[in-house]
Amino acid sequence: MTDNHEASLALDRRAGWPAEMRRLLDKYPRPWTDRPDLGQLSRFWLGRHDMFRELNTAMLQASQALKAGTVPPEAFRTWFQPRIRFFLGELHGHHMIEDQHYFPVLMRIEADLARGFTVLEADHEAIHEGLATLQSASNDLLNALAGPPDRRRFAADAMSERLDGFLKSLVRHLDDEEDLIIPILLDRGENLLG
Ligand SMILES: [Fe+2]
Ligand SMILES: [Fe+2]
Repeated sequence: MTDNHEASLALDRRAGWPAEMRRLLDKYPRPWTDRPDLGQLSRFWLGRHDMFRELNTAMLQASQALKAGTVPPEAFRTWFQPRIRFFLGELHGHHMIEDQHYFPVLMRIEADLARGFTVLEADHEAIHEGLATLQSASNDLLNALAGPPDRRRFAADAMSERLDGFLKSLVRHLDDEEDLIIPILLDRGENLLG
């Protein structure tokens, strides 16, 4: 993103899409799930997004509970370790499908909104960096679980902070991605994604 206008659409700066990009969204406003014309692929994809939001929130709450001392370290490990691994892997795979398959098709079909997909691709790069940060905070925390309580609390605090910041970026991205894509699929039919 080069000019100021594009910079204002960066993940940590924007609050939704500008008016000129909301034409289809105004025609097909939320909520969508009660609409009979919302297809199976759209429902599955929205469900994945909800899962990412919920899992990020649950991991944040668990890290806060560990920091507060209301969950034993070993119980935390058993719960947290498989979930963070699943979260990091699934989100990475989800972005690959969007970058390589969904975005190129949708960009071609709805050329007026192509700019939005450039913004979403830049989001993925920012989120990718966030995933690396989560991974290292998670390694630190899992290593600290068997250590002294102070070190454990410190690592749980760092993990909570990372998960909190990540959740804010992720929710912004998912909301805007849905606002861009679901109206296109309702307007054109989701068969275009194959
Ligand atoms: Fe995405
Ligand atoms: Fe997505």
